[in-house]
Amino acid sequence: MQATALSCVLAAFLALSGSETEAFSAGSAFAGVRARGARATNGRMSMVAATKYNTAKSEAIFTEAKDLMPGGVSSPVRAFKSVGGNPIVFDKVKGAYSWDVDGNKYIDYVGSWGPAIVGHAHDEVLDAVKATMDKGTSFGAPCALENELAKKVIEAVPSVEMVRFTNSGTEACMGMLRLVRAFTGKEKIIKFNGCYHGHADGFLVQAGSGIATLGLPDSPGVPQGATAGTLVAKYNDLASVEELLKTGGVAAVVLEPVVGNSGFIPPQPGFLQGLRDLTNQYDALLVFDEVMTGFRIAYGCAQAHFGVTPDVTTLGKVIGGGLPVGAYGGRRDIMEMVAPAGPMYQAGTLSGNPLAMMAGIKTMEILQRPGSYEHLDKVTSKLIKGILSAGADAGHDVCGGSISGMFGFFFAKGPVYSFEDAQTSDLAKFGRWHRAMLEKGVYLAPSQYEAGFTSLAHTEADIDATIAAAKDVMSSL
Ligand SMILES: Cc1ncc(COP(=O)(O)O)c(C=O)c1O
Repeated sequence: MQATALSCVLAAFLALSGSETEAFSAGSAFAGVRARGARATNGRMSMVAATKYNTAKSEAIFTEAKDLMPGGVSSPVRAFKSVGGNPIVFDKVKGAYSWDVDGNKYIDYVGSWGPAIVGHAHDEVLDAVKATMDKGTSFGAPCALENELAKKVIEAVPSVEMVRFTNSGTEACMGMLRLVRAFTGKEKIIKFNGCYHGHADGFLVQAGSGIATLGLPDSPGVPQGATAGTLVAKYNDLASVEELLKTGGVAAVVLEPVVGNSGFIPPQPGFLQGLRDLTNQYDALLVFDEVMTGFRIAYGCAQAHFGVTPDVTTLGKVIGGGLPVGAYGGRRDIMEMVAPAGPMYQAGTLSGNPLAMMAGIKTMEILQRPGSYEHLDKVTSKLIKGILSAGADAGHDVCGGSISGMFGFFFAKGPVYSFEDAQTSDLAKFGRWHRAMLEKGVYLAPSQYEAGFTSLAHTEADIDATIAAAKDVMSSL
């Protein structure tokens, strides 16, 4: 057991220090690059709009939307509130690109917030979904496609022996929360400052202040009772977790194995294995929320990449191939608590519907082809290196990194190990960067606290064009 634990720690360390995980702190480490400093790079730009950037139709649609829907959107971050200005309104997506209603084309690094890992609207996924649709859109009854997707998930994800499908990541996390409490008979859970697990009441204790550790809700409308059992630890800080575990009665420690909801923050060597050991020691379950990292960090998810197996895993995004899906799964003895096999109730009218199952199956089939993750790693590490050197060349403090098709950087000296560190970023500068990149045809997540995503459809030429735009923008901030 000790030897296994040690080799896992070593494996995690090697993974983090090797080429697979790229972590840089460009503000200082790239000083030599800055001295050589070539700034003018317009010659290589392929996405610069020849005519003035025009978003008149987007503006009109969004103005109307604000009167119809709260904030004009169906999900808050889309509203660009943290970067300023109005969002663009999408018309269509294909491959690595999106187009807005004014006809502007963007290289898209949001990918519908993660699901578009094989590229938007992949022909094979569309054809499979169309053929499935001819048989109906929803059965509300068992369908063979559920078995097919379940088998794919179980084969790939080390911790999953049985799976329950839901319609979103939030729903998966809600089910998981009830399950870990039902299985252990304990009520407390430990989450981490800056980790997001959907918008269910019990998880809306988040970042940034002392009251978070007291379990006070972050959103009005969340009853204090709903968060009374939610304790908050600091990411990459095992001591903060043990302190909370010592209070007793903890059902589970829940985390994003690679954080994407405070910006991109990888686990430090030994952190995940340390959590595995601590949860074993204090008789709590370990839950990896892999809604974002699942099938993105590796085909076996972050748990396969880092060699640490949790008891329960939540999934979403990629396994629905762009249709609404979530899932939670884990050890058979735990999952058999879920109704109707066991007494823990959780249900869904549209859960496991054939369209979403088929989109997920086809997406995973494409991901399984040789070279997929090598491609993601190659384009993503080139992209983040290019952005970081562009920032350093222009004299900015920047730090960041990537694993497989997930990346991010902060306008901060770094290193960033936690949400507290991420908050040292220059948010106003990020807002200017975001808008200027948008105007150059690059669509990035509209928040410093979000990760970016690449896909199998992103080409080296897309990356070169993005880096050229980044050089231009960084030198103008
Ligand atoms: C780690 C994580 N968990 C849960 C969720 C919630 O998923 P959904 O937006 O599908 O409800 C998200 C959404 O981004 C997420 O990143």
